Amino acid sequence: MAENFVKASGSKTEQYRALLPQIVGLIEGEDNMIANMANITAVLKSQFDFFWIGFYLVDEHKDELVLGPFQGPVACTRIPIGKGVCGSAWAEQKTIIVPDVDAFPGHIACSGFSKSEIVLPLVRSGRVWAIMDVDSDVLNAFDETDAHYLSEISGLLST
Ligand code: SME
Repeated sequence: MAENFVKASGSKTEQYRALLPQIVGLIEGEDNMIANMANITAVLKSQFDFFWIGFYLVDEHKDELVLGPFQGPVACTRIPIGKGVCGSAWAEQKTIIVPDVDAFPGHIACSGFSKSEIVLPLVRSGRVWAIMDVDSDVLNAFDETDAHYLSEISGLLST
Protein backbone atom coordinates (compact mmCIF):
# COMPACT_ATOMS: atom_id res chain seq x y z
CA MET A 1 0.00 0.00 0.00
CA ALA A 2 1.34 3.45 -0.87
CA GLU A 3 1.36 5.67 2.17
CA ASN A 4 0.41 9.30 1.82
CA PHE A 5 0.98 12.35 3.93
CA VAL A 6 -0.12 15.87 3.05
CA LYS A 7 1.67 18.67 4.87
CA ALA A 8 -0.68 20.95 6.80
CA SER A 9 -0.59 24.72 7.21
CA GLY A 10 -2.02 27.25 9.66
CA SER A 11 -1.61 27.63 13.41
CA LYS A 12 0.08 24.92 15.43
CA THR A 13 -3.32 23.67 16.56
CA GLU A 14 -4.58 23.60 12.98
CA GLN A 15 -1.51 21.69 11.89
CA TYR A 16 -1.92 19.08 14.60
CA ARG A 17 -5.64 18.76 13.87
CA ALA A 18 -4.95 18.19 10.18
CA LEU A 19 -2.29 15.62 11.00
CA LEU A 20 -4.30 13.51 13.41
CA PRO A 21 -6.67 11.80 10.96
CA GLN A 22 -3.75 11.26 8.59
CA ILE A 23 -1.75 9.54 11.30
CA VAL A 24 -4.79 7.44 12.25
CA GLY A 25 -5.08 6.40 8.59
CA LEU A 26 -1.38 5.69 8.36
CA ILE A 27 -1.24 3.29 11.28
CA GLU A 28 -4.71 1.75 11.30
CA GLY A 29 -4.73 -1.87 10.32
CA GLU A 30 -1.03 -2.24 11.10
CA ASP A 31 -0.23 -3.85 14.43
CA ASN A 32 3.56 -3.63 14.19
CA MET A 33 4.42 -1.01 16.74
CA ILE A 34 7.91 -0.30 15.40
CA ALA A 35 6.53 0.40 11.91
CA ASN A 36 3.86 2.69 13.35
CA MET A 37 6.33 4.54 15.56
CA ALA A 38 8.64 4.98 12.56
CA ASN A 39 5.91 6.50 10.41
CA ILE A 40 4.73 8.78 13.22
CA THR A 41 8.26 10.15 13.63
CA ALA A 42 8.47 10.71 9.86
CA VAL A 43 5.17 12.61 9.76
CA LEU A 44 6.02 14.81 12.76
CA LYS A 45 9.55 15.54 11.53
CA SER A 46 8.26 16.42 8.10
CA GLN A 47 5.46 18.63 9.41
CA PHE A 48 7.26 20.52 12.17
CA ASP A 49 10.93 20.04 11.30
CA PHE A 50 11.65 19.12 14.92
CA PHE A 51 15.36 18.84 15.67
CA TRP A 52 14.81 15.32 17.03
CA ILE A 53 11.65 13.24 17.38
CA GLY A 54 11.56 9.67 18.48
CA PHE A 55 10.59 6.92 20.86
CA TYR A 56 12.39 5.07 23.61
CA LEU A 57 11.10 1.63 24.61
CA VAL A 58 11.05 0.35 28.19
CA ASP A 59 13.49 -2.52 28.74
CA GLU A 60 12.07 -3.89 31.99
CA HIS A 61 14.85 -6.43 32.45
CA LYS A 62 17.37 -3.65 32.82
CA ASP A 63 15.25 -0.79 34.18
CA GLU A 64 16.36 1.21 31.17
CA LEU A 65 14.89 2.90 28.14
CA VAL A 66 16.32 1.71 24.86
CA LEU A 67 16.29 3.79 21.69
CA GLY A 68 13.46 3.10 19.25
CA PRO A 69 12.42 4.63 15.91
CA PHE A 70 13.44 8.26 15.54
CA GLN A 71 14.24 11.03 13.07
CA GLY A 72 17.18 13.33 13.65
CA PRO A 73 20.80 13.09 14.75
CA VAL A 74 22.30 10.00 16.39
CA ALA A 75 21.01 9.71 19.98
CA CYS A 76 21.84 8.06 23.29
CA THR A 77 21.06 4.33 23.05
CA ARG A 78 20.07 3.67 26.67
CA ILE A 79 18.71 5.85 29.49
CA PRO A 80 18.32 4.50 33.06
CA ILE A 81 14.97 4.88 34.84
CA GLY A 82 14.77 8.23 36.64
CA LYS A 83 17.63 9.75 34.63
CA GLY A 84 17.31 12.74 32.32
CA VAL A 85 14.01 14.06 31.07
CA CYS A 86 13.09 10.74 29.46
CA GLY A 87 13.88 8.62 32.50
CA SER A 88 12.02 11.10 34.73
CA ALA A 89 8.89 11.05 32.55
CA TRP A 90 8.99 7.25 32.80
CA ALA A 91 9.58 7.15 36.57
CA GLU A 92 6.98 9.83 37.31
CA GLN A 93 4.58 8.63 34.59
CA LYS A 94 3.88 12.18 33.46
CA THR A 95 4.51 14.52 30.56
CA ILE A 96 7.46 16.86 31.12
CA ILE A 97 7.93 20.11 29.20
CA VAL A 98 11.44 21.55 29.48
CA PRO A 99 11.66 25.14 28.17
CA ASP A 100 15.45 25.27 28.69
CA VAL A 101 17.32 21.97 28.89
CA ASP A 102 20.28 23.62 30.64
CA ALA A 103 17.96 24.45 33.54
CA PHE A 104 16.75 20.84 33.94
CA PRO A 105 18.84 19.04 36.58
CA GLY A 106 20.22 15.81 35.13
CA HIS A 107 19.25 16.54 31.54
CA ILE A 108 21.04 14.12 29.21
CA ALA A 109 22.56 16.04 26.32
CA CYS A 110 22.56 13.69 23.33
CA SER A 111 23.24 16.79 21.25
CA GLY A 112 24.47 20.21 22.27
CA PHE A 113 22.09 21.74 19.74
CA SER A 114 19.01 20.65 21.66
CA LYS A 115 17.61 23.61 23.62
CA SER A 116 14.11 22.60 24.72
CA GLU A 117 12.24 19.35 24.97
CA ILE A 118 8.95 17.59 25.64
CA VAL A 119 8.69 13.99 26.81
CA LEU A 120 5.44 12.00 27.07
CA PRO A 121 4.95 8.56 28.62
CA LEU A 122 3.03 5.93 26.65
CA VAL A 123 0.91 4.05 29.17
CA ARG A 124 -0.88 0.74 28.74
CA SER A 125 -2.69 -1.05 31.58
CA GLY A 126 -1.28 1.49 34.01
CA ARG A 127 2.34 0.89 33.01
CA VAL A 128 4.72 3.00 30.95
CA TRP A 129 5.91 0.88 28.03
CA ALA A 130 7.59 3.61 25.94
CA ILE A 131 8.16 7.33 25.87
CA MET A 132 7.95 9.89 23.07
CA ASP A 133 10.69 12.52 23.08
CA VAL A 134 10.73 15.68 20.98
CA ASP A 135 13.65 18.10 20.97
CA SER A 136 13.95 21.58 19.50
CA ASP A 137 17.03 23.62 18.73
CA VAL A 138 15.27 26.75 20.03
CA LEU A 139 14.37 27.59 23.61
CA ASN A 140 10.79 27.28 24.86
CA ALA A 141 9.48 25.50 21.75
CA PHE A 142 6.81 23.37 23.44
CA ASP A 143 3.60 24.22 25.26
CA GLU A 144 0.31 22.67 26.35
CA THR A 145 -0.87 22.48 22.72
CA ASP A 146 2.05 20.17 21.91
CA ALA A 147 1.43 18.19 25.11
CA HIS A 148 -2.24 17.74 24.18
CA TYR A 149 -1.81 16.66 20.58
CA LEU A 150 1.38 14.65 21.03
CA SER A 151 -0.42 12.80 23.80
CA GLU A 152 -3.30 12.04 21.43
CA ILE A 153 -0.88 10.90 18.74
CA SER A 154 1.30 8.75 20.99
CA GLY A 155 -1.84 7.41 22.68
CA LEU A 156 -2.84 5.83 19.35
CA LEU A 157 0.02 3.38 19.89
CA SER A 158 -1.25 2.19 23.26
CA THR A 159 -4.70 1.01 22.14
N1 SME B 1 17.56 14.75 26.47
C1 SME B 1 16.99 13.47 26.80
C2 SME B 1 17.78 12.34 26.22
C3 SME B 1 17.28 11.88 24.91
S1 SME B 1 17.74 12.83 23.62
O1 SME B 1 17.37 14.20 23.80
C4 SME B 1 17.26 12.24 22.17
C5 SME B 1 16.90 13.31 28.32
O2 SME B 1 17.39 14.14 29.07
O3 SME B 1 16.32 12.33 28.75
